[in-house]
Amino acid sequence: MSDFATILTNTADGVATITIDRPKALNALNLQVLTDITDAATAFDADDAVRAIIITGSEKAFAAGADIKEMADLDFATAYRADWFAGWERLTNVRKPVITAVGGYALGGGCELAMMGDILIAATTAKFGQPEINLGVLPGMGGSQRLTRAVGKAKAMDMCLTGRMMDAEEAERSGLVARVVAPEDLLTTANEIAATIAAKSLIASAMVKEAINVAFETTLEQGLRYERRLFHSVLATNDQTEGMAAFVEKREPNFTDS
Ligand code: HXC
Repeated sequence: MSDFATILTNTADGVATITIDRPKALNALNLQVLTDITDAATAFDADDAVRAIIITGSEKAFAAGADIKEMADLDFATAYRADWFAGWERLTNVRKPVITAVGGYALGGGCELAMMGDILIAATTAKFGQPEINLGVLPGMGGSQRLTRAVGKAKAMDMCLTGRMMDAEEAERSGLVARVVAPEDLLTTANEIAATIAAKSLIASAMVKEAINVAFETTLEQGLRYERRLFHSVLATNDQTEGMAAFVEKREPNFTDS
């Protein structure tokens, strides 16, 4: 993959890693970072050698927010016409599983980026927050929506109205984070999770992701029907035949993503 200005990328054993690399700005998310992350993630999504994607930052900051200096002079007409931040939809449209691995600050857009992943894991050093209120604005990359779905109204209101930070323990207890690990284990754990997922059928993992995401967008009745239809269609795949045959024959499955 070609070089990027603000991220580092690496691919090994079916797992692609995107590391945000703007240390002097605590990985603040300017337009270049948005372009780099979404370009890389889209390319990895289309790359048959990649089966899961990790997005991470540094020990001090996953990302300290959207870039305040870039936004300081942004006006309504420019933001509205460019549909500022809509570019992140290229990331949430990725069909392969995305793990976000957070150490240190995940604030504002950083917290929102962390929530765009499918599995969010945190180091004990992680601090989550939506401090936009301190700047006289509000979340703009999904904070008021994804945080509320993850932790409920009480905590989302608390976080977004006061701008306070939530530590990793509270984030796990509140349902924002799937696992909390020691800082030195963050990337190892992310890679273990990614490797576990990479060994599954790509079709099945994409369907799991699709089905769970539908749960946030529809009624229970519609969602259950959607899941059932996906289940019916997975019966048309070779991976279903292979997965069930392997179980019956007491051997490991050999999935072919077909
Ligand atoms: C631009 C940032 C930045 C940000 C940090 N920096 N966060 N630059 N945008 N979001 C820069 C600082 O200006 C500084 O640059 C350098 O990174 C180091 O930061 P310090 O503040 O010196 O570090 P520290 O004292 O350790 O404090 C860390 C921190 C603090 C608590 C995370 O940086 C902070 O509060 N950052 C802003 C957090 C925030 O409000 N995020 C939400 C942004 S709004 P220099 O050049 O001085 O060394 C958002 C969504 C907006 O995300 C959507 C609505 C439109």
